[in-house]
Amino acid sequence: MKSLSDMSIAHTSSTPAQRQHWVIGNWKMNPSLSAAKTLTQNLSENLLKTTSLTLCKLAIAPTALHLVTLEGMLKLTAAPIQLVAQDTAITRHTGAFTGDISADLLKEAGAEWVIIGHSERRTIHLEDEKLIGQKIRATLDAGLGVIWCVGETLAEREAGQAVEIVKRQIQAHADILTNIDINKLIIAYEPVWAIGTGRTASPEDAQQMHASLRQMLTQISAELNQTSLLYGGSVKPDNAHLLANCPDIDGALVGGASLDADSFLQIAQAFDIA
Ligand code: PGA
Repeated sequence: MKSLSDMSIAHTSSTPAQRQHWVIGNWKMNPSLSAAKTLTQNLSENLLKTTSLTLCKLAIAPTALHLVTLEGMLKLTAAPIQLVAQDTAITRHTGAFTGDISADLLKEAGAEWVIIGHSERRTIHLEDEKLIGQKIRATLDAGLGVIWCVGETLAEREAGQAVEIVKRQIQAHADILTNIDINKLIIAYEPVWAIGTGRTASPEDAQQMHASLRQMLTQISAELNQTSLLYGGSVKPDNAHLLANCPDIDGALVGGASLDADSFLQIAQAFDIA
């Protein structure tokens, strides 16, 4: 693997101030309903009374089962937290898809965004680019935003293929990207080897990939230069500031640390900068 300290932080010519900052909690298959309600209540209370975020938007991705309940709670408190679904079906409509949940149904349940292409779906459910493309289209057709995850495995990084792999994942859907409403698109770079391992990409590595990603996107369409690019993979309060200071990192997709209200809000505060 390339020595992380060898890499200089690459800057792009974009204007970070115009890009939306986001911190999004991916709760995965956690927690129980009662713990999810407590966590949502803690987040709402803290946001309304203590932590004010001005530049960074906040969102949480509970299991689909909990969306309706949490949407009801968030509506009552008016806390500025958006809801995200962790997956969707390949069609936006209702129909004969046993076990699936369509984007129309997720929207009805309160979701505004859907995570697509997460490495856990790519590996556990063998989701390929064809399926990912269908899910992106279904989500956008339903009027929801896409949080699209890309990233390389450890073997691919060690083979020096990290940028190539991410480029392939992006270019597989260049046709969608050409016509997309940029306000409905967030891309999360999540190196697979950093997810849930406690091993974060160094700010230099993450920045370098984000700068490459922004270049890839700009080659598809100039407007995509302003896409919010989030980093994901063992983001914690103690590494969030360094990541937030990288010029092409606009936020974080947070797994483990999003299950604790204080940690999650500390990360959001780190990204609440211009
Ligand atoms: P982690 O997960 O923060 O627990 O590494 C990130 C993710 O999978 O989105």
